[in-house]
Amino acid sequence: ADSSCSALLLFGATGDLSRRMLLPSLYALHEDGLIDSGLRIVGTARSEHTDADFRDFAHAALDEFLPEDRKDETKLASFLARLEYQTLDASNVDGFADLATKLGDTSCGLSIFLSTAPALFEPTIEGLRRAGLAHDNVRIGLEKPLGNDLASSRRINDAVAGAFAEDQIFRIDHYLGKETVQNLMALRFANMMFEPQWNAGNIDHVQITVSETVGLEGRKGFYDDTGALRDMVQNHMLQLLALIAMEPPRDFDATSIRDEKVKVLRALRTVKAEEMVRGQYRAGAVKGGGVAGYQEDLGEPSDTETFVAIKAHVDNWRWQGVPFYLRTGKRLAERRSEIVVQFKQVPHNIFSGRGGKLQANRMVIRLQPEEYVRLQVMAKEPGLDRGGVVLREVNLDLSLTQAFAEARRRIAYERLLLDLIEGEQTLFVRRDEVEAQWRWVDAIRAVWAGGDMECKPYAAGSWGPNAAIALTERDGRSWND
Ligand code: BG6
Repeated sequence: ADSSCSALLLFGATGDLSRRMLLPSLYALHEDGLIDSGLRIVGTARSEHTDADFRDFAHAALDEFLPEDRKDETKLASFLARLEYQTLDASNVDGFADLATKLGDTSCGLSIFLSTAPALFEPTIEGLRRAGLAHDNVRIGLEKPLGNDLASSRRINDAVAGAFAEDQIFRIDHYLGKETVQNLMALRFANMMFEPQWNAGNIDHVQITVSETVGLEGRKGFYDDTGALRDMVQNHMLQLLALIAMEPPRDFDATSIRDEKVKVLRALRTVKAEEMVRGQYRAGAVKGGGVAGYQEDLGEPSDTETFVAIKAHVDNWRWQGVPFYLRTGKRLAERRSEIVVQFKQVPHNIFSGRGGKLQANRMVIRLQPEEYVRLQVMAKEPGLDRGGVVLREVNLDLSLTQAFAEARRRIAYERLLLDLIEGEQTLFVRRDEVEAQWRWVDAIRAVWAGGDMECKPYAAGSWGPNAAIALTERDGRSWND
């Protein structure tokens, strides 16, 4: 295809996401020849810069974030040469006319990526529309947060829908761009072994943990207004839950998959106060180094949660009676994203007369930083068993890191940017999904507002407040620590 009149337009081009993720991802796509050499890459932001300044900025970012062995001088130079810049104050509608002039003919395709403050989404869309940059061959990617409750997310969605059709809108949840997250679908639907067990008849409960060791990371204002529930649960964790709980889609296309995910999101039961724990870190030690508490990091008193644990339920036939325990937090013991599927105990233990004790099977799907699937199964200890049968839990380990050792792991944004450019929507969140996510989160926040839900303190470097441990233990279950 002739793409000399196609372009990728990055709003927020000089921001942190651009520096860390977007520019390195675009470089990777360029390096591998995956984006047409005719595609122009135009950055915009409010600050005054020339094309040359923006190239310097990108060069510094690549220097910092690319591994040494991928810094090929020729490819770097040809990548930088593709970059252009247009100064634009998104709150000033007139600036968009200059942008349209800079872009020229975009009739064969314009992909726009908005990674700006959400307050700028509406004026940006209005500016694009007025400047003729919202035509049928434009796609728009929206970085989170998409609002901070159902009402504000609807307002943004309405504004975008005023200029673009749903099949032109690409709402980003970067977890969907992660290889290991997509692998959840391969595990479930490309194997015969698991899916027949994947229901309330065989599964006792599911745990989803996304723990981080980092703290505020210089995002004071944003984080304190947001908190862990809205920062992580509303999007990433609910997407993981939906992928684990959804029915098999008819095929691997955007409509089939998103239809199934949204059914799960709509089936989420309203959470009760006693099924939730809010936490906030105090001073402690993370990986051996002392760190301050949240309010010291913030510099003021706050009741924003940096940790949340929730016992969720999916009210449908497949999952009736199976709790989904979710937890996420900052400054926890380790960085780990994992899903634990705890199976039920066998119906009858034939070894009990010989003293054999059984543990129910557990499947651990580690998404990051390691990538593995571990099945905990019972086996007999070798021996003549005169003193009784000794059964022990052993691990059936599948290291995906090793199985695919030769494959470079691409960062989520490489795929998401390429999908945006190529118009592939499967890994983007549809409007009805985002709204179902917010509806559930809003109901949680309404319970919090009802009182008695202050944050419980936890020491930095721990696994969160004791109450989060009690959330599983009082059900006779335990987190996979
Ligand atoms: C972002 C959150 O969406 O995801 C951050 O805003 C969080 O607070 C990050 O640190 C985690 O992403 P990842 O890819 O490092 O697991």
